[in-house]
Amino acid sequence: MDQHVSEDLIDAGRSYEALFVPALFEAWTKHLVEGAGISGGSHVLDVACGTGVLARSALAKTGTNGRVVGADPAPGMLAAANELEPTIEWILCGAEALTVEDESFDCVVSQFGMMFFEDREKAAKEMFRALRPGGSLAVAVWRSVDHNPAYADIIQVLDENVGTAAADALRLPYSLGDPGEVMAALERGGFGGITVEAKTEMAKFPSSRQMVEAELRGWLPIFDIFLGEDEINEVLMESDKLLRKYAAPGGRAVFPTSAHIFSARKV
Ligand SMILES: C[S@@+](CC[C@H](N)C(=O)[O-])C[C@H]1O[C@@H](n2cnc3c(N)ncnc32)[C@H](O)[C@@H]1O
Repeated sequence: MDQHVSEDLIDAGRSYEALFVPALFEAWTKHLVEGAGISGGSHVLDVACGTGVLARSALAKTGTNGRVVGADPAPGMLAAANELEPTIEWILCGAEALTVEDESFDCVVSQFGMMFFEDREKAAKEMFRALRPGGSLAVAVWRSVDHNPAYADIIQVLDENVGTAAADALRLPYSLGDPGEVMAALERGGFGGITVEAKTEMAKFPSSRQMVEAELRGWLPIFDIFLGEDEINEVLMESDKLLRKYAAPGGRAVFPTSAHIFSARKV
């Protein structure tokens, strides 16, 4: 990644890393590392790598004999990823057109990106192409909001206080909860031996207020939804009441989150 990236985009990437990664995403990387069977010397591709939390976990396993590449279409995410781990190769591309050689990886992993892919079948074909024969894939996708109740609570507050556009933006990450849809895309991509397991991990935010603000100020603007300060205060007040049940010592908000982990092979 050597193109110029604006400071605003890099700041957005840094904020994503600070606000969401330790609280929500980091706990999941072990499932993908295990699901894809990453080990010393593996060549690994992380698709939709964001700021690279999964790629960094993969690197810890592959050691210096391996190779780790992170791919994402968001330049600010990659710039923030590169600040954190410059020894990983960060490549700017979407899952539907990966700029990697055919059959050049032992393992392909992807964590919480598939719901945003415009063409999941094309992405599955690309991940299949990148794998060497016998290579393995692991993908994490959030289950529906029914299995992620803290987000169902915030969606309810948004629906009631600021309208459906904001609520829909928060529904999107939980919109691919039907495992059959993901399995069908992987099958059409060429994969065999597809398995799926539902897993739960605890999210741990410094406070419920910080968790909701991260969504309002960090997530909604991606959809061009900019709430006024009055609206933000109203949502924070209302969500405070609903999220009280997740209060933990030290003012933290701790709650279960649930995702499907898919594993598959290039047979
Ligand atoms: C919720 S973040 C997950 C990032 C990272 N995997 C993690 O666990 O922190 C979703 C990522 O998907 C990326 N994304 C969106 N559309 C994509 C596409 N078509 N192909 C690949 N990545 C995409 C976004 O840029 C973002 O970095």
